[in-house]
Amino acid sequence: MRRKLAAGNWKMNGTDAALAEVDALIAANPSPMVDLLICPPATLIDRMNRRRGNHALALGGQDCHHAASGAHTGDISAAMLADAGASHVILGHSERRADHGETSEMVRAKALAAQDAGLIAIICVGETLAQREAGQALTVIGAQLAGSVPDNARAARTVVAYEPVWAIGTGKTATTTEIAEVHAAIRAALVARFDAEGTGMRILYGGSVKASNAADIFAVPDVDGALVGGASLKAADFTPIVAALERA
Ligand code: 13P
Repeated sequence: MRRKLAAGNWKMNGTDAALAEVDALIAANPSPMVDLLICPPATLIDRMNRRRGNHALALGGQDCHHAASGAHTGDISAAMLADAGASHVILGHSERRADHGETSEMVRAKALAAQDAGLIAIICVGETLAQREAGQALTVIGAQLAGSVPDNARAARTVVAYEPVWAIGTGKTATTTEIAEVHAAIRAALVARFDAEGTGMRILYGGSVKASNAADIFAVPDVDGALVGGASLKAADFTPIVAALERA
């Protein structure tokens, strides 16, 4: 049985004033029946950690360095995220792959670092519009998955997020048919490689998830939750998505 996960990726958004949204999210979801996660900018993790008290809200980073420590100016290690109160880290988001040239090999090294620090890695895969139009979506995603997920990955510490690049922040969502095809392919690849552990790994969908489309997306087989960008910034937008996942 896979526990469902509603994850918010705040990307490079939020300063101290945004903590009020965490208060509102907690107030609106006093005891969520799904795993609830916010990945704020790293600068806010510690403040959110203090703010959440005993609430089950989990916190995550949006990236980490592959090394545990050292001369890497501007980078943050997985252990530092954990120290600040994070239990999760998003790795290989398409914006990191595009903006910072992250390859699947680099993502895999980061995932190993996350494991060492005891974090749950949310490993992102997804095709561009050109790749989808060329009929390469499943090939591209398969290669990203094979390259990014470490050989010793375990269900308890590994989540895969399918985020079609063309659906991120565009208001365009993949159709439920497209999502079903990709999630089934990801599940098959995970089971082929990791057996029962692959059955237990959660697969999230991400890309313009909002209250109005969440229920349809969550009804798709092998969708175990969502990785939400824009609609996670405000508690009033995120809460109906959490509620839809609780009902799914
Ligand atoms: P949007 O929900 O804003 O499309 O972002 C999705 C995403 O990239 C989450 O990681």
